[in-house]
Amino acid sequence: MSRVYFLFAVVALFIFIGCSGGEGSPSGKDLTLKKCNQCHSHMITCSSLDEGKEYWEGTVRRMAEKDMDISKQEQSLVVDYLNNLSPGSEPICN
Ligand code: HEC
Repeated sequence: MSRVYFLFAVVALFIFIGCSGGEGSPSGKDLTLKKCNQCHSHMITCSSLDEGKEYWEGTVRRMAEKDMDISKQEQSLVVDYLNNLSPGSEPICN
């Protein structure tokens, strides 16, 4: 019987870790999807996916200066995410 409780505790722990990880620290992908289509569609971002890291650093900083609600750390997550996407990648390009 105690084995059942142990299993339950392990499962509960995984669910707990899964949830807190998801909410506490959104990934570059989450941030991009949530924040980068507030003023224009993701297609604008899509059309620049063949650009390099410097382009994204400059562009994301420029977007942030337009009163975006995004921290420096979040900006670098977005830059890394976009820089690693190949042209035409979903879900940015649909
Ligand atoms: C506050 C509104 C706003 C938000 C939020 C925003 N953008 Fe923009 N974006 C603009 C405007 C306005 C333009 C066109 C004029 C310009 O470039 O300043 C633009 C243009 C662009 C362009 C076209 C290329 C260029 O150099 O102009 C890209 C790529 C881009 N945005 C990517 C992003 C990404 C990636 C994000 C998320 C980090 C984002 N934008 C969030 C307002 C915004």
